[in-house]
Amino acid sequence: MTELFDPHTTGVKVRNTIKNDIPKIIDLDKQSFPFLAKYGNIWKQEELNSHLEIFPEGQFVAVEPDGTVVGSASTLIVSLDPEYKEHTWIDITANGMFTNHSYDGDSLYGADISSHPKHRHEGIGSMLYAARKDLAMKLNLRRMIAGGRLFNYCDYADKMPALEYAQKVIRGELKDPVLSFELDNGFKFIKILNNYLDDVRSLNYASFIEWLNPKFHQ
Ligand SMILES: CC(C)(COP(=O)(O)OP(=O)(O)OC[C@H]1O[C@@H](n2cnc3c(N)ncnc32)[C@H](O)[C@@H]1OP(=O)(O)O)[C@@H](O)C(=O)NCCC(=O)NCCS
Repeated sequence: MTELFDPHTTGVKVRNTIKNDIPKIIDLDKQSFPFLAKYGNIWKQEELNSHLEIFPEGQFVAVEPDGTVVGSASTLIVSLDPEYKEHTWIDITANGMFTNHSYDGDSLYGADISSHPKHRHEGIGSMLYAARKDLAMKLNLRRMIAGGRLFNYCDYADKMPALEYAQKVIRGELKDPVLSFELDNGFKFIKILNNYLDDVRSLNYASFIEWLNPKFHQ
């Protein structure tokens, strides 16, 4: 059980997910992903059960002292060949069930991360990333990777291609709730993933992001 305390946020702790958290994570997702929830594209009970059976130490929640779940993050271990292989969310998560998870993999894959809309910009997202980075270091994984939805791209799609939008966010000319957050947490933008996730906000575009484990040893 990993427990991290962050003084910045009143008593919020990050720990590994337990079975009793599942209904609370589903509630959180409905509020954190309203655009995806509308089409039923949020976690289902059987998927979260499967994650806990397959890779319990990779599942995290952020909880307030009274047990309210204010954030969650899901991961699995994979290998990509080639290392920046084009992929979709459905492919890389085995349809959300993580049955493709393998401890022989070299990459911790971030399948999902969210903090409650009423608690954004309080450092909860960064605490969840810190817990996942700690896990990648503890398991001596080479890196952490993910596909980050380009959350505000829908507001720019008529003006520029997705790559140009991402480059403007990287240069700080634009802010994106997800890509700016990922860059602020030490991730590097690798490339655009097309048709990554059925999502009206990003028009299905995502950023392939990577964080290299500084402590990795062969
Ligand atoms: C992305 C998300 C997890 C960030 O969570 P969070 O708890 O607000 O993150 P933090 O407080 O740790 O943010 C850290 C930094 O990231 C950046 N950041 C966070 N949200 C941002 C935003 N909306 N716009 C621009 N930068 C942002 C800021 O630099 C922020 O530092 P600041 O608060 O000092 O400005 C949260 O916005 C969320 O749940 N979004 C909806 C779900 C989602 O799309 N998840 C990503 C799936 S790929």
